[in-house]
Amino acid sequence: MNIAVIGTGYVGLVQGVIMADFNHNVTCVDIDIDKIKSLQRGEVPIYEPGLEELLKKNILRKKISFTSNIKSAIKNSEIIFIAVGTPPAMDGSADLQYVLNVAREIGKNIENYKVIVNKSTVPIGTGKLVKDTIEHELKKRNSPVEFNIVSNPEFLREGKAVEDCLNPDRVVIGYNSIKALNIMKELYTKLEEKNIPFVFTNIETSEMIKYASNAFLAVKISFINEISLLAEKVGANTDDISLAMGMDNRISPKFLKCGPGYGGSCFPKDTKALVKIGDNVGEEMSVVKAAIYANEKQKFKIVEKIKKEMNGLNGKTIGILGLSFKPDTDDVRDAPSIDIIKHLINNGAKINAYCPKGMKEAKWRLRNFNNKILYCENEYEVSNKADSIVLITEWSQFENLDLNKIKKNMRDNFYFDLRNIHNKNTEIKKTFKYFPFGKKNHPIIS
Ligand code: UDX
Repeated sequence: MNIAVIGTGYVGLVQGVIMADFNHNVTCVDIDIDKIKSLQRGEVPIYEPGLEELLKKNILRKKISFTSNIKSAIKNSEIIFIAVGTPPAMDGSADLQYVLNVAREIGKNIENYKVIVNKSTVPIGTGKLVKDTIEHELKKRNSPVEFNIVSNPEFLREGKAVEDCLNPDRVVIGYNSIKALNIMKELYTKLEEKNIPFVFTNIETSEMIKYASNAFLAVKISFINEISLLAEKVGANTDDISLAMGMDNRISPKFLKCGPGYGGSCFPKDTKALVKIGDNVGEEMSVVKAAIYANEKQKFKIVEKIKKEMNGLNGKTIGILGLSFKPDTDDVRDAPSIDIIKHLINNGAKINAYCPKGMKEAKWRLRNFNNKILYCENEYEVSNKADSIVLITEWSQFENLDLNKIKKNMRDNFYFDLRNIHNKNTEIKKTFKYFPFGKKNHPIIS
């Protein structure tokens, strides 16, 4: 099948590459000409394990190409994926300007039947809005062309995007025409063959499934984070609480790990958008609102704890390990590290920071604080004259640090492990005033 994917961000690029790997002919479109040029060379502008290899393979097979010419891409495809960004507007709602720009281009350029697939996370009712926008353009051209809208939300996780797209837990397809549904089924034959479950529903439900799923996961994380704050106060151990809770099949162990709060491009944005969607129709999303509040609070609470244990932060140097919102990604959008670093600096601390992939973006996001931050070459440099290490992101390379090497460079020996990655390391408690997360502190050295 001939497919156009408009937008080469995380979602669009991965979708395009996977569709090419499924033997479809894919044209990916972006307005960013530099990005298109580098993609044509087989260079992936984001850090996503496995993606570049798959891209190069399918460029060689001539299954995928890149262009900034949206018109020809639209004309030559029977399926058009809209995968452009829906960033949060000032009021928290999803900004649809890019989606609707694409819809206008489609309306201006289609000449025969097309299936238009919404892959971007969009507020409920956007399918209808895209349809109306295309119809409006067709009317202006006075050329009635048949088309159908489909909603096919993406559930991929950054860092595991390729794996998630090749083996999704489920594929959701919202449709209002059997013709479009059959085309979608044909498109995803490879997934059907793997017995991946499909959910066929109407467009509005499909749009809402994405928000409901992300909001639920955010609620789950905020819940365990709140439990972790309480556990620390009463002498309980959150890891054991999560373990035992997760053994209940109805709860499941996934997304029950306490930490500095959820970040990234989806949960913060989608929870706020869902609250806004509720407000617009007079339904308060009180549970989701509480999750957002708890997530913000978590970062303050962490800095308060560090400040209390270290007897103030003024003039102290804090070595930060990990800036990206999670491991295996260079994405720093809404990462807890950003707020934590800002709060630490506002309390008088200086920062040494290192992240395997997130340094460049963090430098930009923290640009107003950079006079208090030293960006380091590696994980050992952050310990230079530091009073404390604060491990924010659980990159696997931090698991087996040479603790003595770190300690030797430090002025004091606090270590706050916000992800409990050193849980089983008995040495760390001997070397540092070690503070795991969500458990009562048992520092051996005081
Ligand atoms: C998420 C959804 O998982 C995915 O289905 C959707 O398409 C996009 O949003 P992503 O943002 O890539 O994916 O990251 P994910 O792995 O889900 O983690 C989100 C955040 O939650 C991270 O900040 C992570 O550290 C945090 N998290 C996750 C926890 O704090 N505890 C957990 O137990 C799990």
